[in-house]
Amino acid sequence: MRRKVNMRNRNVRMAIVVAVMLSIGAYYSVARGATGNLTANGNKHNLSASGTGAYISSEQQICVFCHTPHMSLTEGPLWNHSLTIQASYTMPTPSATQLTTPLNPPDEASRLCLSCHDGTVPLGSVQNLGGVSTVISMTGGVGLGPLPAASTAYLGTNLSGHHLISIEINNQLVTDKAAQCPSVSYKLNSGIAYPYLQPTRSSYPCNRVANPNGCKDNVTMRHGVQCNSCHDPHLDPVPGVTKFIRGASGAPSTQAGWPWTFGDSLCCQCHISCTGTCP
Ligand code: HEC
Ligand code: HEC
Ligand code: HEC
Ligand code: HEC
Repeated sequence: MRRKVNMRNRNVRMAIVVAVMLSIGAYYSVARGATGNLTANGNKHNLSASGTGAYISSEQQICVFCHTPHMSLTEGPLWNHSLTIQASYTMPTPSATQLTTPLNPPDEASRLCLSCHDGTVPLGSVQNLGGVSTVISMTGGVGLGPLPAASTAYLGTNLSGHHLISIEINNQLVTDKAAQCPSVSYKLNSGIAYPYLQPTRSSYPCNRVANPNGCKDNVTMRHGVQCNSCHDPHLDPVPGVTKFIRGASGAPSTQAGWPWTFGDSLCCQCHISCTGTCP
């Protein structure tokens, strides 16, 4: 009955968002811990007047760019940012060993991220600000426009060259990746934990006969890789590291910049060597 638990978790999380919206600071630090108040100097997701990034506004509220207690969209937790209507994206060319096929367009949290990061929707476009749907004017030459292509955080609609997103991880995939060893050096960890596993619809055939356990929690809501497997959009920067990257425990990564390899703590949450170790 994993599915029920999952549904309940989602409701609980939703309730937390409501509570947060009604009683901002205190609840927030309880719900998310000290690493995620979006007020720390350099947190680029603080688009309010108190933000210090390139794209801020005269709006005082911090969360409103992404969440609202009322009139929210149902696609995400009390979601307030207007969603992209992009029907399809350019996806990575499948590698010879790749078994999954990403959903196109991506779903769940990846879709929420792309509502700003694909550069098709005005950065300040929200469903509800003071009861009306509006576009908040942004600094940095953006005005009422989208995230500019000049931003290093601009992904656009071509997702090739990025890690796969909107793919499912189930027991069958773990088994099938392990079967590729030793012609590939890395398999999937069989015990990938939340927060690395994020909701997604299916994009890998779950073989119910060979692997009943791999499917029974996957009736409507499946779990796999989304943008928020590797990023938590609320994490405050740690010295030397920005980019909202999750570390070994889901807390901000202390791993500095590129290149990221299979041996790094983030990648090792999912990819382990064929001998079962984090290389
Ligand atoms: C730039 C966009 C953005 C901003 C700003 C933002 N959030 Fe979120 N938030 C998200 C996304 C995307 C999700 C869903 C994915 C996830 O949970 O990581 C989310 C999920 C949540 C959740 C659900 C619980 C969870 O951890 O999954 C809570 C609670 C939350 N946000 C609170 C806040 C609060 C409070 C603020 C303001 C201090 C805030 N957020 C600001 C993007 C944002
Ligand atoms: C409301 C719009 C919005 C949403 C929604 C949003 N972002 Fe962003 N994000 C931004 C802006 C604006 C920047 C800063 C761009 C810049 O400075 O050039 C940014 C920057 C980033 C950065 C770079 C941070 C750094 O310190 O360099 C990452 C990583 C990122 N976002 C990931 C995500 C992910 C993952 C999600 C979804 C879970 C998400 N964003 C949702 C607007 C958004
Ligand atoms: C498999 C893990 C993973 C996934 C999935 C992932 N990212 Fe990232 N992302 C990273 C890492 C690691 C970096 C940091 C690279 C570096 O150190 O320069 C990064 C960097 C970024 C940056 C900053 C780019 C820059 O050079 O400043 C943005 C923006 C971003 N990611 C957004 C997204 C969005 C949006 C998605 C979903 C469409 C996504 N990421 C999915 C791991 C991931
Ligand atoms: C949340 C789990 C997760 C995380 C974290 C993760 N990956 Fe992945 N990765 C996957 C899955 C699942 C696949 C798809 C495998 C397939 O389709 O065969 C994949 C595929 C890949 C592939 C293509 C492999 C192939 O056989 O085609 C590479 C390369 C890769 N990941 C590198 C990384 C790196 C580098 C990191 C750390 C920045 C990382 N991954 C973090 C789950 C993850």
